[in-house]
Amino acid sequence: MILMSTDQPVVPTKAERRLCESLHLRDEESEALLRAMHLGKAARQAVVFSPRAPQAYEPPFACAESSRFPWLPARVRIPVEGEKPTRYADYTLGLYYVLDLSSCWEGAALSALSGAPLRSLDMCAAPGGKSMLLAAHVQLLDHTANEVHAARRGILRQNVELCGLPNTRVTGWRPEQWSRSGELFDLIMVDAPCSGQSLLCKGMKNPGCLGKNVVQGNAKRQRGILSAAACCLAPGGYLLYTTCTYAPEENERSVAYLLRRTSEISACDVPALAAFRSTLSEFPSYRLLPHHGAGAGGFCCLLQREK
Ligand SMILES: C[S@@+](CC[C@H](N)C(=O)[O-])C[C@H]1O[C@@H](n2cnc3c(N)ncnc32)[C@H](O)[C@@H]1O
Repeated sequence: MILMSTDQPVVPTKAERRLCESLHLRDEESEALLRAMHLGKAARQAVVFSPRAPQAYEPPFACAESSRFPWLPARVRIPVEGEKPTRYADYTLGLYYVLDLSSCWEGAALSALSGAPLRSLDMCAAPGGKSMLLAAHVQLLDHTANEVHAARRGILRQNVELCGLPNTRVTGWRPEQWSRSGELFDLIMVDAPCSGQSLLCKGMKNPGCLGKNVVQGNAKRQRGILSAAACCLAPGGYLLYTTCTYAPEENERSVAYLLRRTSEISACDVPALAAFRSTLSEFPSYRLLPHHGAGAGGFCCLLQREK
C-alpha cells in the first residue's frame, strides 16, 4: 500500500504491479512511480525557441533555473510554476514552441550527433515538437517532417510555417512507403506512437494503457516503423528512437528487435544522459521517470549505422 501526499492509501492494480516488476525498480522507485501515476501532477512544461527567435532572444515570462537540467540545449527554457507561455504575443508570432520537459529530455540525445545532418527525417512528426528540438540542437539543412494522419499533418504544417523551420518539407508517407522509397537520411527521428503510460502521471485519462494487449500491439507497430526507418538510414546515419511510455516491450525490447535484425546498426552512448542509463538493456539506452523531476518521463535510444 502506498500513502499519497493526502494520506489517502493507494492500492496498486495488478497491471501497475506488473509494470513495476518489469522495470526492476527498487521499492522506493516503484512507490514513487505509482504515486506519480495516481496523483497525475508530474507534467512540466518547457519552451523551445524557434528559428524565428533572434540569437539573443529571452522570453517575456519568468523562467526556472535550468542548471538543474544540464542536458537542456541553450535554446530551451522552463517557465516557472503557474506561468502560461501560450498567453503571450511571442507565442502567437511563433518565436517559441511549447512542449513537455520530458520531450526535451528525449531530444537531448541529439547532443551526441557528430554534426548537423545533411538530410534529416522526422518520421512521426506531428504536432512538431521533435523537429523544433532538432532545430534547437543543429541547423536544419534539408529536413522532412512526416506525419501519416492527415488532420495531424495539417497542424504540423501550421507549426512548421509559424515557427519558420528552414529547409523543411512536410510529407504524409506510411512507414512501408518510406522503406520502398530509396531515400536516404543522415538522421531519422522515430518518436513512436506508443501506449502513452506517462500520460497518467500528467493527470490525463488513458484507459487500458497498462494492458498487455495494448502494449504488445504498440510494440508490433513500433518494430514495423523502426524496420522501415532502418531501410532509409544512410551509412554513418543516426536513428533516434523515443517514446513517452514505460513498458520495456515498447522501449528496450523494440530497439533490441531492430539490433538483432540489422547487424550494421548499433546503439551509441549519450554522455549528457549518462545518469539515466537504462539497466534493462546491455546496449546504451536511457529512461526518465517522474521522480527524476523532469516531467512525466520517457525513453530514448540513439542508434547509428556503420559507415
Ligand atoms: C508521439 S506522436 C509524435 C509527436 C511528435 N514527434 C512531437 O514531438 O510533436 C506519434 C505520431 O505517430 C503517428 N503515427 C501513428 N501511427 C503511425 C504509424 N503506423 N506509422 C507512423 N506514424 C504513426 C501519430 O499520428 C503521431 O502523430
